Amino acid sequence: MTRKLFVTTALPYANAGFHIGHMMEYIQADIWVRFQRMQQDNGQPRQVHFVCADDAHGTPIMIAAEKEGITPQQFVANIAAGRPQYLDGFQIKFDNWYSTDSPENVELSQSIYVKLREAGLIVTKTVDRFFDPVKGMFLADRNIKGECPKCGAKDQYGDNCEVCGAAYQPTELKNPYSAFSGSAPIMKPSEQYFFKLSDPRCFEFLKDWLNTPGRLQPEMVNKVSEWLGEAGEKLADWDISRDAPYFGIPIPDAPGKFFYVWLDAPVGYLASLKNYCSKTGIDFEALLRDPATEQIHFIGKDIVSFHLLFWPAMLKFSQHPVIDKLKVNVHGHLTVNGEKMSKSRGTGISPLRYLQLGMNPEWLRYYIAFKLNARVEDLDFNGDDFIARVNSDLIGKYVNIASRCAGFIAKKFDGRLAATLSPKAQEWLARALTKDGAPRAAQIAEHFENREYGKALREIMEITDVTNQYVDENKPWVLAKDAEQTALLHEVCTTALLLFRQITVMLAPVLPNIGARVAEFFNDAPYAWQDTQDGGVNGGVTAPLGRTVQAYNHLMGRIDAKMVADLFDAPAAAPAAAPVAAPGKAAATAPAPAVALPAGIAPLEAEIKIDDFFKVDLRIAQIVNCELVDGSDKLLRLTLDAGEGRLRNVFSGIKANYDPAELVGKLTVLVANLAPRKMKFGVSEGMVLAATAADEKAEPGVYILHPWPGAKPGMRIG
Ligand code: 2FM
Ligand code: ZN
Repeated sequence: MTRKLFVTTALPYANAGFHIGHMMEYIQADIWVRFQRMQQDNGQPRQVHFVCADDAHGTPIMIAAEKEGITPQQFVANIAAGRPQYLDGFQIKFDNWYSTDSPENVELSQSIYVKLREAGLIVTKTVDRFFDPVKGMFLADRNIKGECPKCGAKDQYGDNCEVCGAAYQPTELKNPYSAFSGSAPIMKPSEQYFFKLSDPRCFEFLKDWLNTPGRLQPEMVNKVSEWLGEAGEKLADWDISRDAPYFGIPIPDAPGKFFYVWLDAPVGYLASLKNYCSKTGIDFEALLRDPATEQIHFIGKDIVSFHLLFWPAMLKFSQHPVIDKLKVNVHGHLTVNGEKMSKSRGTGISPLRYLQLGMNPEWLRYYIAFKLNARVEDLDFNGDDFIARVNSDLIGKYVNIASRCAGFIAKKFDGRLAATLSPKAQEWLARALTKDGAPRAAQIAEHFENREYGKALREIMEITDVTNQYVDENKPWVLAKDAEQTALLHEVCTTALLLFRQITVMLAPVLPNIGARVAEFFNDAPYAWQDTQDGGVNGGVTAPLGRTVQAYNHLMGRIDAKMVADLFDAPAAAPAAAPVAAPGKAAATAPAPAVALPAGIAPLEAEIKIDDFFKVDLRIAQIVNCELVDGSDKLLRLTLDAGEGRLRNVFSGIKANYDPAELVGKLTVLVANLAPRKMKFGVSEGMVLAATAADEKAEPGVYILHPWPGAKPGMRIG
């Protein structure tokens, strides 16, 4: 039977770019997928479908879009447009990237819900909820703020206090206010829809499902079993509804009610697969029913309850065919230098900055893989360890083999590998590639299959050790000086390169770019795991004997410690004795200046380096046209000439202060390298600089920057 794998990572909220924790999960899953894609079942390539999507729904995204004056759909599309730079940058190859705000997800979520209702597992209850009378909307716990009932700290969320760590109900907050409008919330009854997880059928099912061998990591079985209680008494009904206004999927036959984002989010896995199937001509229904199909989710430990209680119960009681195929792989969190990531402590690592610094993505892939195992353990990114591990393993051990041998093949043998090997050389091949008489590749494959990447890489590094020992003992650089040793030089370099090729095949799931470049060097087709044995597209270990190889280009450089130092966020300045916050803004969230500032002056942002400043490309631009924007009471449409031989369209929220005619012909300052943003009224190709008071309500007004005479369009500012 050919295995058919449907693999996903958790769907990220479409409210921001990726952080390094996202990249860790994607790298973990991508390595597994690439390993699977290298496998064959009965001579047929294994089928792997690796999909993800933006988790588009929910109040935070709705509010963020409103703040930007665009629709939630546009907001989500803008976020989605930023995804490829991360994914391509770190060589993460999903087959499909979709959205939970899609027709497929609406249809699949509603049909699952209707079946749950038919199964008698949907109930309604009237509950009292906080309501923002100004915004006219119900508030989630996180959207209510107030004073902590335990320590009195101000501006704490409705569910827990970030100062003293206390957990409480939003009703316990003192002086609660809505995070959206600042108004005091009122209690209002609302009819809510619940998934009846307390039904004894759910307990009976979950108990068996969790304990099916091979489905979950043992520590997860134990943890989730505790949540069930002895007889399901700990399982509470799950509120799956939210009231309008809400960006989500309407609940059938329930006007004004929408599915809570976590109801339709996991269905998004199926929606993305369905969308992918329709693009590629795969029969979605047949794939889901096929006994050879396995559904595998990679997720973090913080979202286990959704994936190991609600999601399986939803699938089971909607009689979904994938319920028996479901496996969930849970990973721990990423810490940085032993600490939970935090921008204010200067421990956050931005994936984009990593790429912008010119750091090789395969360094990170290797390091993360080296530290990963199949357990639910946190993984620490330690800067010094990262440098040492990568420089030692990848440069000192692996690339070093090719660097020491490929040049001689080119220079002394016209790029041709030796055609035969002596028994001694063959003995070295066997010594490197077998352990206790068994091929190492088989053991390494088992480690990859079981997500024990650290074990796999340690074994692969043992092969590099034996290979380097072979090179050290034979010293090609000495042989090259003795004309009588030419044949031996040829054999030694050939043997070492054959081993280098084997190591590359086994590293290919982790280092796909290097894998492809080495395959080109050997004139091989893309590597398959079968290339570690005889057979397969490229043949086994000795297949390249007698072959002419391509010119060797250096594969990878060492990590420079300076780069790693630049990778970390600069820590925010030390907190001032009396932190100043603009009225209405929480001092706790704003980076505090070193010296207290006068009232009404906004706190300074965290210190940046000059290089950070120069990433923002500021240009002088002339306003060649300026007009009102139909339907907007804030924006003006500016047509700008920034000396580029083309004009730019930029929307700016300066209508309150300026008559369009008075701006035409004036010079101003443009942020010229800001990504274009799709807005309700068109695409904005940059931003003009303007000043506002810290408290815009007390001191309204927006003042556009205007350079001194002499400045010309296109001049750079800095
Ligand atoms: O925790 C999160 O980031 C969620 N957006 C994950 C959703 S996973 C799946 F259920 F969609
Ligand atoms: Zn507190």
